[in-house]
Amino acid sequence: MPITQPNLWNSGDAYERYMGRWSRKVAPIFTEWIAALPESSWIDVGCGTGALTSAILSACEPARVVAVDSSDAILTTAEVALADTRVHCRLGDAASISEPDGRFDVAVAGLLLNFVSDKEAILREMARVTRPGGTVALYVWDYAGHMQLMRTFFDAAIALDPSASAFDDGMKAPICRPEPLKSLLTQAGLRDVEVRAIDIPTPFDSFDDYWTPFLGGTGSAPRYCMSLSEEARERLREDVRGRLRTGPDGEILLAARAWAVKGTVAEGPGVYFTSAS
Ligand SMILES: C[S@@+](CC[C@H](N)C(=O)[O-])C[C@H]1O[C@@H](n2cnc3c(N)ncnc32)[C@H](O)[C@@H]1O
Repeated sequence: MPITQPNLWNSGDAYERYMGRWSRKVAPIFTEWIAALPESSWIDVGCGTGALTSAILSACEPARVVAVDSSDAILTTAEVALADTRVHCRLGDAASISEPDGRFDVAVAGLLLNFVSDKEAILREMARVTRPGGTVALYVWDYAGHMQLMRTFFDAAIALDPSASAFDDGMKAPICRPEPLKSLLTQAGLRDVEVRAIDIPTPFDSFDDYWTPFLGGTGSAPRYCMSLSEEARERLREDVRGRLRTGPDGEILLAARAWAVKGTVAEGPGVYFTSAS
């Protein structure tokens, strides 16, 4: 079984317009919370177009950041955007990272976890490549709750077509809640596990600014959107439009919550998931 969904991530530009721009607002709050020392060595798994790596470079004074992604198309965009001698972009699978044990001070992943089938394997690898005493941390959207731009889309889509729920990360991703996240990291052998909410505004200039990214085909909701006939897509568009409150200048003000979780790699031999799996 493939560890990730094939062909879901096929355009860096489309990803950036749809989700990268919002991940860029979460990432600096997340890295500040991690509070790693300057000159730390980082790995960013599922780096996408580089939202989290950019935040690390801007605010954390890293010695080095290895940015790994399994999509060639997405990584190409990241390589251009992250032109910095401290960054090394690599094509690879987060479940099988080509790095020795304990190589990094910090291993992070932004918006990756719910897109991989074997979440324990990802945590095991992140913990393995991090030194004892180092930090493993990640964030995901609160899909089922306060991720309003996606909730509005899927609430409308499912009302018109119940089969849309197969694409809805809110239903597919029970891991994206505080307790399951905490359990996952604790079972990975991480210590001092903490979870927090990161809330950001997601303002749109107009309905077109909201809707156009759903036509990019990259990510679950855009993929569903582009699987529809033109007629069905138009019906969905108008239903979504009716659900959004528009301001006097056409603006649409929404908000999004991410759940962030972090833990410390235990001292001693790197044995993970021994009792849980
Ligand atoms: C939602 S995007 C998040 C990108 C970026 N971290 C951000 O916060 O904007 C998920 C990314 O994970 C990558 N990905 C999915 N499965 C992966 C895997 N098994 N190993 C490495 N990358 C993976 C995808 O190609 C995609 O770029």
